[in-house]
Amino acid sequence: MRLHYALAIAAASLASALPAEPEPAAAPAAGPDAAASTFAGIDNTANPATAGEAAHRRHVFHIGGQQVQANNGTIVVNQLYVEQLIPAAGVKQTNPLIFFHGGGFSGTTWLNTPDNRKGFASYFLDKGYAVYLVDVTTVGRSPRQPNVAMVSTATAQGAEAGFSAVERYNAYPQAILHTQWPGTGLVGDPVFDGWYRSFIQVPSNFAETEVAMGAAGCELLRRIGRPSFLVPHSYGGIMAWKIADQCPDRVQGYVGIEPDTAPFTNYIRGFPQRIPTRPWGLTNSRLTYDPPVNDPSELIQVTVGEDTAANRSCQLQAAPARQLPNLAKVPFYMYTAQASIYMTFAHCIPAFLRQAGVRDITWQLLQDLNIKGNAHFSFIEKNNLDIAAVVYTWLQSKASRGRA
Ligand SMILES: *[C@@H]1O[C@H](CO)[C@@H](O)[C@H](O)[C@H]1NC(C)=O
Ligand SMILES: *[C@@H]1O[C@H](CO)[C@@H](O)[C@H](O)[C@H]1NC(C)=O
Repeated sequence: MRLHYALAIAAASLASALPAEPEPAAAPAAGPDAAASTFAGIDNTANPATAGEAAHRRHVFHIGGQQVQANNGTIVVNQLYVEQLIPAAGVKQTNPLIFFHGGGFSGTTWLNTPDNRKGFASYFLDKGYAVYLVDVTTVGRSPRQPNVAMVSTATAQGAEAGFSAVERYNAYPQAILHTQWPGTGLVGDPVFDGWYRSFIQVPSNFAETEVAMGAAGCELLRRIGRPSFLVPHSYGGIMAWKIADQCPDRVQGYVGIEPDTAPFTNYIRGFPQRIPTRPWGLTNSRLTYDPPVNDPSELIQVTVGEDTAANRSCQLQAAPARQLPNLAKVPFYMYTAQASIYMTFAHCIPAFLRQAGVRDITWQLLQDLNIKGNAHFSFIEKNNLDIAAVVYTWLQSKASRGRA
């Protein structure tokens, strides 16, 4: 099995670097708070919970998919779960935001953080955006597909090593700078334990899932009826590329929260390993190239740059690079966090896009804005709203004029 989710990159893959399993923390003392402390931690079972989520109205629906004839009647497959959140004070921004979760998660990843602070969804509701949260097809509340095997993405130790406690495993040089996880980031800490409970399995049919997401995502954009920003984390980045390629005129911009991952390659199990994947460059399924590509083997790859633990070499196209004319219509933004494993290979993404004709590219290093100490789950870490403010600045610079 090839684990080529971004999530798996840091998690599964760093397993070889794992030290002995950390000591579990002592069980919480019995008492009035004992029951609550077995959940994600902080007041999230209080009535009301104290996360301070933005007031909103919610509508849910499923979109896309196809009817197929099974032996006993008609069924629907590949439909997408969508949650629309509208600020209680009304929509003030022209372009909605559609959020795509990472591999091993669902749309809940954008709601309150595991330590029960405001998440990205609430931040942007407060700013007056219509917010859409989806569960990737086959995942979460998007119905499970018949005959699709599901795959786990990370053990608890893999999640520590890849995301929440990277500084203790030190599998790449930047990891030691990690300071922003709420709590210890280790098994036994209530915040970690609550977060780890939110992991779910992902479908193993990678290319088919992308195709389903491209179709359902464009159907969602058509239904929304106004150009929207796609905001993916990690594995969700593949889905957003697929959608942007398929209906670029409906996409106001691509807003990558460390989107998945490097062209043609997973840099898993740490330096110097590199695992070929995503043969279409950014995806496992067809992208619109010019000149057209019928089989991804027509994309000629070259390795560019010195390969070091802190800064990996990239797989790019040999010159003359084929162009991605649809993606070139979509303004591209991504940020990279100082202590994330993405710091070691993120530079490969803009390099690949630039080669393929994408001109409107913004790559923000958070450390250049003095936002330091974050790893790959920056959007739920202690300073997540500072980071949301950075994203908001870019969104404003690319907003269309006109009525909300
Ligand atoms: C239809 O048949 C399949 C087996 O072919 C079975 O798995 C499924 O549960 C059936 N669906 C219904 C609604 O009866
Ligand atoms: C990483 O390598 C690329 C070339 O692949 C180079 O352009 C970039 O400046 C390097 N980054 C750092 C921080 O050394």
